Amino acid sequence: MRKKVTKAIFPVAGLGTRFLPATKSVPKEIMTLVDRPLIQYAIDEARAAGIKEFIFVTSRGKGALEDYFDHAPTLEQELRKKGKDQLLEVLKDTNMDSGAIAYIRQHKALGLGHAVWCARRLIGNEPFAVILPDDVIAAETPCLQQMVEAYSETGGNMVAAMEVPPEKASSYGVLDVQKENGQIVEVAGMVEKPPAGEAPSNLAVIGRYILSPNVLRSLNKMKTGAGGEIQLTDAIAQAIGGDEGVYGYRFRGQRFDCGSKSGFLQATVSFGLAREELRSDLLDYIRDVVQMDQAAE
Ligand code: UTP
Repeated sequence: MRKKVTKAIFPVAGLGTRFLPATKSVPKEIMTLVDRPLIQYAIDEARAAGIKEFIFVTSRGKGALEDYFDHAPTLEQELRKKGKDQLLEVLKDTNMDSGAIAYIRQHKALGLGHAVWCARRLIGNEPFAVILPDDVIAAETPCLQQMVEAYSETGGNMVAAMEVPPEKASSYGVLDVQKENGQIVEVAGMVEKPPAGEAPSNLAVIGRYILSPNVLRSLNKMKTGAGGEIQLTDAIAQAIGGDEGVYGYRFRGQRFDCGSKSGFLQATVSFGLAREELRSDLLDYIRDVVQMDQAAE
């Protein structure tokens, strides 16, 4: 029997420099899409996939993130007094069972691979998920849930994959595809941020992973890779051709790069339009803006 994936690592120790000055005092993961911080979308997705233990790799200045998952007795009491049951219900999703959540410090931002490695003792000898909260995915079946279902057939290591335009490939880890099998792709190689024109395919890795504990052992031995950071992609690539293998999974859904300003703005519009109570106003406004823009041309 394959072990179930019940642990997830959320690496949130990055500096978030692309959002300065906001991220000087607000962690990127607390920035808000409509009315929820990015981290809430990630947690909801993990829960839907059956994750029971949530491990955050944090750094200095991420206190707001830890507070977000605490109970807020005064606020809850106030809402109860005012009969705001719906809001109390909304707050419930932010609460974590005692013991279900752990925080580990990454003392230096040495890269995503290093951040994952920092959580090694909490993972032990089990498969685990990694979720990057700045990749927000709108999907009917949450992305990690799709992957957990596919992983129950493949085992090994699985990375979420999506097609990107060739000129964007050098911003991603890119898969060298060995064999396509519906949504599952057998991987012959992985290259982190390939130089322009040298990407082995247009299938890019985005921020969802299901990994074998052997990847942690590989990270143990790693030296720095592209950009002077310890790359998770490089450690996963070491499993290619071994007993466990590496698979890409073409998920169904739309991914927003909320680590970039334009991705964040697009996600805001898209998630806003998906909310019944906001849709009509927002749509009217977008139409006005487009009309004004066209008139100005
Ligand atoms: P990014 O590459 O987006 O870096 O990290 P960043 O620091 O968050 O943002 P910018 O580029 O300066 O604006 C991708 C994910 O990996 C985590 C980040 O928190 C983010 O979730 N990460 C990155 C770490 O936890 N530690 C690191 O050393 C690097």
